[in-house]
Amino acid sequence: MAKQGPSKKRPGRRPLFEVRHSPVHGYGVFALRRIRKGTTVTEYLGDRVSHEEADARYEDKDPDDNHTFLFTVDSKTVIDGGVGGNDARFINHGCDPNCESTTINKRIFVEAIRTIQPGEELAYDYQIERDPEDPPNVDEIFACRCGAAKCRGSMLVAPKKPRKKSLRKPPARDSKRTTKKAKKKSRSRVRAAERRSVTRRETRRTARVAKRGGAAR
Ligand SMILES: C[S@@+](CC[C@H](N)C(=O)[O-])C[C@H]1O[C@@H](n2cnc3c(N)ncnc32)[C@H](O)[C@@H]1O
Ligand SMILES: [Zn+2]
Repeated sequence: MAKQGPSKKRPGRRPLFEVRHSPVHGYGVFALRRIRKGTTVTEYLGDRVSHEEADARYEDKDPDDNHTFLFTVDSKTVIDGGVGGNDARFINHGCDPNCESTTINKRIFVEAIRTIQPGEELAYDYQIERDPEDPPNVDEIFACRCGAAKCRGSMLVAPKKPRKKSLRKPPARDSKRTTKKAKKKSRSRVRAAERRSVTRRETRRTARVAKRGGAAR
């Protein structure tokens, strides 16, 4: 029989984080202890509804109000952190974040992507998508105040740059010299695509219809 070691859960340990006022916006979530890279910090909880239901809930919202507790899981489901949500709904956006959101079996988790020191505010990149119908001042409406040196100024994803036509001749398919490199590149592209598919996708549509202030604390 396998030997049973002591429980890894240390009773009485302080929680990993707390919610308090943030210099970035409203409330934020701050580390109380050192959080190691790779730690699952929390799960984003709330009412799981369809996009239609999320739209209907917040249809009266001012279109210039960027506040949202809605988190898009996929094309079918949105989590409304404003209804039955937990402290995860107070994690602010950051352009050079210390956390990342990941989707596992349609559940959203927030994971530390580097070691976080006590007192640091937790943040992940909301990656709010752009929409062809966005007003010209959309980046003003979604202005980012994360304060990072690398701040892109907006909580929306960076606008796509028009693709330049390559003047270089494509390498021959059967070239020995290129085969290994080309294989490596295509694999990493696949990985990047996988990574993208598990990060936060908050559509403009749902962001636009979210309720100001959300649920009272
Ligand atoms: C999930 S809530 C985060 C908690 C929020 N601070 C609060 O007190 O309710 C997301 C909203 O917070 C605001 N927010 C989050 N990060 C921000 C940032 N970096 N710059 C400006 N506003 C931000 C936006 O209004 C956004 O829609
Ligand atoms: Zn920023």
